[in-house]
Amino acid sequence: MPTAVSLFTGCGGSDAGLLDAGFDIVMANDILPYARDTYLRNLPNTDYVLSSIADIKSFPKVDLLAGCYPCQGFSQGGLRDPVKKINYLYREFDRALRLIKPKAFIVENVSGMIRNDFRHLLNNQLIRFRTAGYRVKWDVLDARHYGVPQERSRLFFVGIRSDLDVCFDFPTPCYETEGATQGLPRCPTIRDAIGDLPLWPDEEEYDRQEFHWYYLSRNRYRGWEDQSRTIVATGRHAPLHPISPKLIRLGTDEWKFENDGPARRLSYREAARLQGFQRDMVFPDTYGTQMRYRVVGNAVPPPVFAAVAKAIPNIW
Ligand SMILES: C[S@@+](CC[C@H](N)C(=O)[O-])C[C@H]1O[C@@H](n2cnc3c(N)ncnc32)[C@H](O)[C@@H]1O
Repeated sequence: MPTAVSLFTGCGGSDAGLLDAGFDIVMANDILPYARDTYLRNLPNTDYVLSSIADIKSFPKVDLLAGCYPCQGFSQGGLRDPVKKINYLYREFDRALRLIKPKAFIVENVSGMIRNDFRHLLNNQLIRFRTAGYRVKWDVLDARHYGVPQERSRLFFVGIRSDLDVCFDFPTPCYETEGATQGLPRCPTIRDAIGDLPLWPDEEEYDRQEFHWYYLSRNRYRGWEDQSRTIVATGRHAPLHPISPKLIRLGTDEWKFENDGPARRLSYREAARLQGFQRDMVFPDTYGTQMRYRVVGNAVPPPVFAAVAKAIPNIW
């Protein structure tokens, strides 16, 4: 069984994908206690180190290094500040890469990094990973193409150690979306993912703040037969549940409900399903609703990470 170290592990979206792809995760790390708690309730067999990555001085030797460093600085919903310190945690990943020297690595991040104002950071990562001795490819993947019922585009880097003389190709789409990939199975819908859950869950399971002007500055609605809008890390910005009335566009950045019927945001449990987590994912009682939204929204959809890991040729 090939072995892996996971960094910026969160509650384990990337790692659920690695386990599905047949990896033994020897070590995981994150700084957020609730992410660790959730991970270990669902994936109890990993040595999960709770600390800042900067405090870890040595790592086990493994075949694969996986890491999804934070993205607040680049993300559409974030500050988009190219000088933010959190944008530079890729240097810690690079440090681990040079210490471990795995056969391959996988990095996931937000697609905002390919924007012009962040391009220098993307290029710097490529230069670092290449000078560390890896052939690196990157691409932006649409989660719907791998069976995740959600509009979610994310940037992936995959590197294979140059001495192995092996090429990597990103996985081709496995599911059809909007007719672009005809002949493939239909991507699952919101109904497929959450149709069996109560229409009105316990009130602690979803964010009940008012629908403020910023919330209504874009269309947060998708119907039962659609894929969800992007699941984000804040409950306040969670997409609407399909039992809510549709939103009608009034003008630039201005939407309103088409009627006064009851409306609500997706719950954190529904959000987890729409991210492709196991259907019976357990959320420990420590911390409240917002923290649950946070770890779920930060995660990589497991089916996407699994598809990327499985696409690496058998170099193990
Ligand atoms: C994009 S999320 C990772 C998601 C995770 N891979 C998953 O699939 O669930 C980035 C993670 O980096 C963690 N993080 C931020 N700063 C950190 C640091 N200095 N050391 C370790 N982890 C850190 C955050 O707590 C967050 O869980």
